[in-house]
Amino acid sequence: MAHQQDRTAVASAGPGGVDHGVEVVEHHVPGVLRARRCRAAVAPEVPGDDVVVAGQGGGLGRPRARRPAEPGGEDDGRALAPGLDVQPLARHGLECRAVDERVTIGTVADLQRAGCLTGKAGAQPVCVFWSDGAPFALDDRCPHMGFPLHRGTVESGLVTCHWHNARFDLRSGGTLDPWADDVRAYPVEIDGDAVVVVVSPAPDRRAQLQHRLEEGLEQGISLVTAKAVLGLLDAGVDVGDIVRTGVEFGTRYRQGGWGAGLTVLTAMANVLPHLDPADRPRALVAGLAFVSRDTRGRPPRFPLQPLEGGPPPARLAGWYRRFVETRSSDAAERSLATAIAAASGVPADLGSVADMMFAAVTDHVFLDGGHTLDFTVKAFEVLDHLGAGAAPDVLPTLVPQTAAAARSEERGAWRYPHDLAGMIAEASARLPERLAAGSACAVRFDEAGAGGDGDGGGGGGVARLAWSILADDPAEVVGAIDGAITGGARPEELGRALAYAAALRITRFHTQNDHGDWDEVHHAFTAANALHQALRRWPSPALVRGVYHGALRVYLDRFLNIPAARLPTPGPADLADLQACWDQEGRVDDAGTIVYRALTGGADPAAVIALLGRALLTEDAEFHWYQTYEAAVRQYHAWPAGSEEGALILAGCARFLAAHTPTRRELAQVVTIATRLRRGEALFET
Ligand code: FES
Repeated sequence: MAHQQDRTAVASAGPGGVDHGVEVVEHHVPGVLRARRCRAAVAPEVPGDDVVVAGQGGGLGRPRARRPAEPGGEDDGRALAPGLDVQPLARHGLECRAVDERVTIGTVADLQRAGCLTGKAGAQPVCVFWSDGAPFALDDRCPHMGFPLHRGTVESGLVTCHWHNARFDLRSGGTLDPWADDVRAYPVEIDGDAVVVVVSPAPDRRAQLQHRLEEGLEQGISLVTAKAVLGLLDAGVDVGDIVRTGVEFGTRYRQGGWGAGLTVLTAMANVLPHLDPADRPRALVAGLAFVSRDTRGRPPRFPLQPLEGGPPPARLAGWYRRFVETRSSDAAERSLATAIAAASGVPADLGSVADMMFAAVTDHVFLDGGHTLDFTVKAFEVLDHLGAGAAPDVLPTLVPQTAAAARSEERGAWRYPHDLAGMIAEASARLPERLAAGSACAVRFDEAGAGGDGDGGGGGGVARLAWSILADDPAEVVGAIDGAITGGARPEELGRALAYAAALRITRFHTQNDHGDWDEVHHAFTAANALHQALRRWPSPALVRGVYHGALRVYLDRFLNIPAARLPTPGPADLADLQACWDQEGRVDDAGTIVYRALTGGADPAAVIALLGRALLTEDAEFHWYQTYEAAVRQYHAWPAGSEEGALILAGCARFLAAHTPTRRELAQVVTIATRLRRGEALFET
């Protein structure tokens, strides 16, 4: 139904010399409401003739706040006019437009005498400088950290903030110091003797915030990134769009392709729903800061284009594995790009691309300490956030790392005193027949022989397989996996058992070990988690080989459980005591015990996971900490609610975090500053 616009109204003079900017436009729709006057709060549910817009103080002079603007806080640009709730108007066939406000600041004589006058435009403080014979108006809050600009120094058409000396052009508000951001400039008019600042409707700041986010990434300034992220979230921008910005930046500006930064960003995007809402911005900022750090000082990436009308998928898959095998990175990338183009970005079709990539990742043993597998899984997972259409830009970035990755069979530990790589080759050769036998199995593997055998080996078949993987004899480890496959274990169950075994290495890691050896156990765990995630979605026979790789890696770490730390036991616990474990060094066992006891004592697992997330995001965490937390959260959820396995996994995560805390906690401080700035707090006074 076409609306007929038949009347416009109203702008009324409010207190303080401000003409407030609200214009109501009535769309006359037969049979629907007509607006006759505007004087009080909108009451959309009351049918009738009186439709009104504003409330506070009466009349349109003080529009009622939908989201009350914080005094001096940052404008989010969401409302047409500050605080005006436009939805009820729309329901009544009305639309609301914001129009210019005119703020009288003082007289020309006063301004010339003082050099600077201040006032308010709505909730925003403004300052007007007299310079070179003319007035210039700026927002009075320095965009860097909120210091009042009217206290700054003016010369040569610049105002210099007196806190950190950022300089701003008086005419445009543009900064000469990009870390500080541009300040909003307002037109000023001389009306008789009055100095009048003209405040236009707040522009939609999303584009500006998006630009600032990109600048934060380019310059590596976490405060700029944090302010942009907070602003975008407040403006209702979807988290996926923020992640997309980071991914586009990280894939474009890093010749080496996918790395730790994009992995952290994806891990944080994955766990975001499990974090306390207050901690989610920190998670995004942490991931974006890693992406920025990963690209700094590196050349950009120039992607290779797909072959026009390339060969069929099976041949491309063969090419890809062959070129990775011979470390021919460019050839592999072009093959992969062609395969992705053939898949047309349809999610279901990416399965064939995943199969060929994971086959190449497991053609050799435990590539690059497990990183290659983890990176590959994360690259596919980020497509869950961005959509499969991002695959052509994302997946080929994995190729340089995959082709160059160190192959564990070339390392002595995998050859002597046991030829572990040889054992894997033999097991892999027998895999097709074992998988065939397993698929004919009538009994579900996880239920077979359930009931437990004590000493931590209880639970179903998956848990018992995990404990078997912890055996001291590599032949026993391989035999246990062989038996599980023949016994019908599904790829997902194999991956889950492996990840649990790797988690137990952390939960039983003795603090007498060298501190650096935490790196060994978490690598095995995070790679096992990645394998488990991949097996859940793309359970190809080639990928099942990775279970042998991961299991023998766990075997190699057995010395880190000799002696093994004692597993925690049930008992009373107070989650509030965890904080001391993050604040004091050496509270590793305490942290694990508190978490285990809380979970087995009936604490809400979601609260425990959120607390661990807060601990992570409070610290200046390193790459592997994010990986470990994310892996622990996902592995916890892989087991039934309230399971012993889940409690031990999270206890291990708590131990890992406590082994590395406290740190300087700088990043969390940056996000706190950005949050306080958005609230309009005067940081310079506290
Ligand atoms: S430069 Fe103005 S607050 Fe830092």
